[in-house]
Amino acid sequence: MDIEFVRSRFIKHFDGNTGNVYASPGRINLIGEHTDYNGGFVFPGAVDKGIMAEMRANGTEDTVMAYAIDLKDRVDFKLSDPDGPRASWARYIYGIALEMKKLGVPVKGFNIAFAGDVPLGAGMSSSAAMESCFACGLNDIFGENKVSQWDMVLAGQATEHNYCGVNCGIMDQFASVFGKAGCLMRLDCRSREFEYFPFKPDGYRLVLLDSVVKHQLAGSPYNDRRRSCENVVKHIAAKHPEGKFETLRDCTWEQLEEVKDEVGAEDYKRAKFVLGEKDRVLAVCDALNEGDYEKVGEMMYKTHEGLSKDYEVSCEELDFLNDIAKENGVTGSRIMGGGFGGCTINLVRNDLYKKFIDDAKKRFNEKYGHEPKVYDVVIGDGSRKLC
Ligand code: GLA
Repeated sequence: MDIEFVRSRFIKHFDGNTGNVYASPGRINLIGEHTDYNGGFVFPGAVDKGIMAEMRANGTEDTVMAYAIDLKDRVDFKLSDPDGPRASWARYIYGIALEMKKLGVPVKGFNIAFAGDVPLGAGMSSSAAMESCFACGLNDIFGENKVSQWDMVLAGQATEHNYCGVNCGIMDQFASVFGKAGCLMRLDCRSREFEYFPFKPDGYRLVLLDSVVKHQLAGSPYNDRRRSCENVVKHIAAKHPEGKFETLRDCTWEQLEEVKDEVGAEDYKRAKFVLGEKDRVLAVCDALNEGDYEKVGEMMYKTHEGLSKDYEVSCEELDFLNDIAKENGVTGSRIMGGGFGGCTINLVRNDLYKKFIDDAKKRFNEKYGHEPKVYDVVIGDGSRKLC
């Protein structure tokens, strides 16, 4: 994907003028899954794959003309239309434009063409990449770049909540906006404080194996997981009127045990995973500071187990990829992102890399009739204007 490619389509599909070009990445997450909407910690980084968009004000009051280059699909709509467009990709443009307006950006009609190389439905946050890319463009074209990075993160999240049906946390949009080449970021989702962590593990590398099972969060059990967590918090809060319980971050293991019987087995398991995951992120940070990658890997396997058995967001194919990793002596492996399909993220020693990938391709192919896709992780920069 390059600027000239996007530009040639922008020229061809609109009035021949050029606009400005913006790019935003997808993300990986080393550890800290389903913790963001529970006020916990996450440990993501932006990748070198993402969305690129050319955009230009078109002189109309509120008509947006949008072209999805990869899908070869053109949709025009008005920002004043209360329902907005139906095409799911166009809803991200509609949603973010309205959210940016809420932040005081006087968005008017514009033309936009975009393309991407972040795989769709692989759990690498192609949707957050779209939201932050379009937010970055609208902020520049109509808003004199007055909207802060954090407000763009929140506008992206609000787009998911209000127009796309996913009650997500802030990890994906945060990683896409704030990413920095070579660095992972530890974010405290309650205080929103974060730290850049240079990540260059000597002798190891990160690789994603994409099961190509489509992950689709909209209207999915993702929202149910979130509701389970909120239900547990509600019960704990009711037992402790003196305390302040906003999310599972504020709850202890003892308090969870107290409500075990009343919340039911399923919600209990969900919350148990979240409390364990909160501790694992911190353990991984300590291990990274000490250069102890074996410990990092151990935590990743524990996360996989929890996501599979307690949070129940894995699937047969991802569990199989995790088993193959274990059998090949891979240091750490786990399902990445929201779940229900997508990728595993693997921390693997350089000397085992080839054997692992070959074995995973062969055995996955034998069982499912196709190979998993392999993405070597390169940690890249966040949202930016290219020209
Ligand atoms: C999706 C959501 C994020 C986060 C992850 C799970 O990617 O968009 O907010 O909850 O799932 O960690």
